[in-house]
Amino acid sequence: MARPKIALIGAGQIGGTLAHLAAIKELGDVVLFDIAEGTPQGKALDIAESGPSEGFDATLKGTNSYADIAGADVCIVTAGVPRKPGMSRDDLLGINLKVMKSVGEGIRDHAPNAFVICITNPLDAMVWALREFSGLPHEKVCGMAGVLDSARFRHFLAVEFGVSMRDVTAFVLGGHGDTMVPLARYSTVAGIPLPDLVSMGWTTQDKLDAIVQRTRDGGAEIVGLLKTGSAFYAPATSAIEMAEAYLKDQKRVLPCAAYVDGALGLKGMYVGVPTVIGAGGIEKVIDIKLTKDEQAMFDHSVNAVKGLVEACKGIDPSLA
Ligand code: LMR
Repeated sequence: MARPKIALIGAGQIGGTLAHLAAIKELGDVVLFDIAEGTPQGKALDIAESGPSEGFDATLKGTNSYADIAGADVCIVTAGVPRKPGMSRDDLLGINLKVMKSVGEGIRDHAPNAFVICITNPLDAMVWALREFSGLPHEKVCGMAGVLDSARFRHFLAVEFGVSMRDVTAFVLGGHGDTMVPLARYSTVAGIPLPDLVSMGWTTQDKLDAIVQRTRDGGAEIVGLLKTGSAFYAPATSAIEMAEAYLKDQKRVLPCAAYVDGALGLKGMYVGVPTVIGAGGIEKVIDIKLTKDEQAMFDHSVNAVKGLVEACKGIDPSLA
């Protein structure tokens, strides 16, 4: 059986990390695309040369031509510009929207059957734009953020409780911006919801609130430390988790920026929700019930995403 083909659009820090992870995990053969001449070719060759030591079977090709992504099973999009300290993700909207247009058209023309995972910011609006420009089915285009935000939440919780992160589950919904909604009630340590852990005296509400806020600021914390760009290891790992769920039909329950039409009271928009990812792409959006307070936070986040989508339409009239 032929190995799956994984196209990585953008050969920056995340693109290179994605290529390395995809090869090490033997998810398929990798095509690394970028408009910068030499960069994708150099990174692909460098990773391929690690193969003999690592012992993986995968080919890696760097390219500046969309024709080389032809027939890809998965496309992971990181193309565009990362933010710098002092910027919000939303500040990238104008510049990255233009990039999504060429990427979307490239995918439409060469890899129309792919499962597309977008990482470019501002995430939810860029996923929406990428879907519009590519014309692919909604269930085949999604964004990575929920897995990343939930991983950050899980990491902080595992450290706070002094337990293995394997025993911590966490859920972050809403847009991948300052308004994201880490859901304590749906997050657990060994199946025990976080509010119960507060009642049991294992942590305090103040500590939990601080972790929730740190999760919301997780991207900015890394940007502030790196100074020259944004996070790349955890974003790449999160997207690979989603790609693997699709390629291996794992039916993983993962929060991601998916098209929602009906669930959670939403009508035809992209935002972070719990989904099931399998061979059909986004096979299901899980229609979880929220309390009044959670709903208010979620609505606030949804409205922020809607505002960004409207801004995209204002910038590019073909999207209106
Ligand atoms: C992240 O959360 O790490 C990414 O969205 C990058 C950023 O700008 O924060």
